[in-house]
Amino acid sequence: MKNLSLLVLNGPNLNMLGSREPGVYGRMTLSDIEKAVRHKALKLGVKVEFFQTNHEGELVERVQKTRGRKQVIILNAGAYTHTSIAIRDAIAAAETPTIEVHLSNVHAREPFRRHSMIADVCAGQITGFGADSYLLAMEAAIRLADR
Ligand code: DQA
Repeated sequence: MKNLSLLVLNGPNLNMLGSREPGVYGRMTLSDIEKAVRHKALKLGVKVEFFQTNHEGELVERVQKTRGRKQVIILNAGAYTHTSIAIRDAIAAAETPTIEVHLSNVHAREPFRRHSMIADVCAGQITGFGADSYLLAMEAAIRLADR
């Protein structure tokens, strides 16, 4: 798809990456991840908007704003993945293809992380590849948009 733009949305506590449980999430900061994403986007010729918030309602609003645009959302909703019906409903209503991403493998951790409120309204889930989860999601996004 020409003029594809990606919205990379990050939820709560992802601003703490780098120092937050490095054994689980690695040493890269969110700004390191943003740089890697922008570098790849430049090579692939896609536009990227990158945004982080700790607030559920702000995630809902960002998802809502994509409606009717040529966008794919790459979403790491953090802990809201496991709890937020509001974010789930926003994704369903926006009709914007959304890829769920996680740095850690949520299926190999505590049982409460195995359930995702958003998985079935997303196009797919990429989980467990650290910062590479975002880069893999970008490739998936381009394929999705080309379908
Ligand atoms: C996470 C996994 C979630 O369970 C957790 O609450 C996060 C980060 C991840 O990227 O691995 O905040 O989404």
